[in-house]
Amino acid sequence: MSGQELLRLAGIEKSFGETEVLRGIDLSVQKGEFITILGSSGCGKTTLLRIIAGLEEAGKGRVFLNGLDVTMDEPHKRDVRMVFQNYALFPHMNVEANIGYSLRLKRLSREKIKTETAAALELVKLSGYEKRMPAALSGGQRQRVAVARALVNRPPLLLLDEPLGALDLQLRRQMQLELKRIQQQLGITFIYITHDQEEALTMSDRIAVMRNGVFEQLGSASEVYNRPRTSYVARFVGNANILQGEVVSKTGAKGREILTVGVSGTKVLAASGAKDPEPGEHVALAVRTEYVNFLPPDAGGASGIPARITAKSFTGGQLRISAALTAGGNCEVTASRHGIDSPLEIGDEVLASWQDPEQAVLVEDRE
Ligand SMILES: Nc1ncnc2c1ncn2[C@@H]1O[C@H](COP(=O)(O)OP(=O)(O)OP(=O)(O)O)[C@@H](O)[C@H]1O
Ligand SMILES: [Mg+2]
Repeated sequence: MSGQELLRLAGIEKSFGETEVLRGIDLSVQKGEFITILGSSGCGKTTLLRIIAGLEEAGKGRVFLNGLDVTMDEPHKRDVRMVFQNYALFPHMNVEANIGYSLRLKRLSREKIKTETAAALELVKLSGYEKRMPAALSGGQRQRVAVARALVNRPPLLLLDEPLGALDLQLRRQMQLELKRIQQQLGITFIYITHDQEEALTMSDRIAVMRNGVFEQLGSASEVYNRPRTSYVARFVGNANILQGEVVSKTGAKGREILTVGVSGTKVLAASGAKDPEPGEHVALAVRTEYVNFLPPDAGGASGIPARITAKSFTGGQLRISAALTAGGNCEVTASRHGIDSPLEIGDEVLASWQDPEQAVLVEDRE
């Protein structure tokens, strides 16, 4: 990253009729960065990309590219290309003609168009497919042609709207690596939309978790994962338990305090993170399922929150075991493990715990 700002969004708002879709988006993107916007369906992701591309007018706010205000500029005046979720290839043109389309509009020489098109096809590993029609390509190949078509102009900024949404998991994983390789090889800035949190975590320099038209958190993959700001982010990126409790005491240096928190009648340790609550204050803790251990209550010196195992399931390559807190009303804690079996059985009494106070993060809870 060169540390130079390529795109800046300042206070972007947008409504369709009465519906507020974007409610104040600020973003600064550096040259060469890979930023992912992660959010559930309908939260405003596509609308935001369309405003950056100039396909939609912002109701309020400004869009700056390379320091210039382009808010009112037509799409073709902006150095931005977009890859749509539904491929959007011209069905009556072969691969070569699809990719070369914008070069022909620019009236480049036939020779130049041929070499540029070939280079773009090589980039997406589709050399030899020049004469194929879109209908005779697989979904993944079509999507690669769409990427090649967007890249052929070497735009400084590429917007990708769920480009891998229609592909099966295996092809998706493969294309993720290829897109990342292309992005790094060309040094192009990517703004990438997905609602797949794993995709966001593997590909991005930074992730913006979007909810109801605002960024609820914007940070590096590890910040968003390890230091979620809210219970929503903790649950949306990875799997987290949200436990309610009350601060009992705190120790340690300012800004790095270790809190003792009463959860369901048991004292547990948590890191204060950016927040600094006082004893007696109500707090919410996010604990990732992979950090939760269920210990037998009779193990010497074991401590944790008393709970009883209620469910075991095997999903997505992981064993998930849930337990209801004995003194905690309807509260459940879930642990996840690799592997397919565990000696724990439904009905077993356990102590739910985690090893390191840093694994319990204070979050804002406003579901
Ligand atoms: N042209 C439009 N007219 C009216 N409402 C619209 C229009 N475009 C989008 N919306 C509404 O704005 C909201 C955000 O839509 P948007 O397409 O930005 O969501 P998204 O985050 O991209 O969702 P998805 O993940 O399903 O693609 C939705 O409620 C949608 O119905
Ligand atoms: Mg969308």
